[in-house]
Amino acid sequence: MKYTAAVITMSDKGSKGLREDTAGDAVAAILEKNGWTLEYRTLIPDEYSQIKEELVRCADDLAVQLVVTTGGTGFSLRDVTPEATLAVGDREVRGIPEAMRAESMRITPMGMLSRAAAVLRKRTLIINLPGSRKAASECLEAVIGPVKHGVDVLMGDAGDCAEMHLHGKEQEK
Ligand code: MTE
Repeated sequence: MKYTAAVITMSDKGSKGLREDTAGDAVAAILEKNGWTLEYRTLIPDEYSQIKEELVRCADDLAVQLVVTTGGTGFSLRDVTPEATLAVGDREVRGIPEAMRAESMRITPMGMLSRAAAVLRKRTLIINLPGSRKAASECLEAVIGPVKHGVDVLMGDAGDCAEMHLHGKEQEK
C-alpha cells in the first residue's frame, strides 16, 4: 500500500517570509525516510479558521492518510493548532500525543509545554507537532513507526490485532 502524507506548518513569521520553514523540511524528510509519500505541503499563519480549512482540504479533498502539522501548540495566545485540530476531528487519538510527550520529557522538561493533539477525520490521521525543528523531529520520530499500523487499520488493510498478538507477530510491524 502507498502511504500518503501532507505537512502543514503554522507560523505567523514564516507566512510573512520572516522565518525559514526548517521544521517543515525536517518533518518531510522523516516522513519520506519512513516510507511516506509527501503529496502536499504548505505554510500558513496561526489563524484558527485557516488551519481548519487546510486540515479539511487535506482530509476530504486530497484524502491523504496522514496529516502532520508543526507549530502553534504552545501557550502563546496565537497558538491554536490543537483547538482547530480537535474541531475538525471525528475521534481523538490520545495515545499519540501521550507518547510524544513521554518521549519529549526524557529529553527536556519543556516537553510538557506542547499541547499537541491527534485526531481521526474519516480515513485521515492528523497529528500536531511542536514548532521548532528539534522538537518536531523528536516528537515525530517517537511515534512514526506504530502510526503505519494505525493507518493500516484505518484503511481496513490490517488483520485482526488480537490474531497478531496470538501469533507473536507484533515485531514484524
Ligand atoms: N518537545 C521536544 N521533544 N523537544 C523540545 O525541545 N520544546 C517544547 C515543547 N515540546 C520541545 C518539545 C517547548 S519549549 C514548547 S514552548 C512547546 O513544545 C510548544 O511549541 P510550539 O509552540 O512551537 O508548538
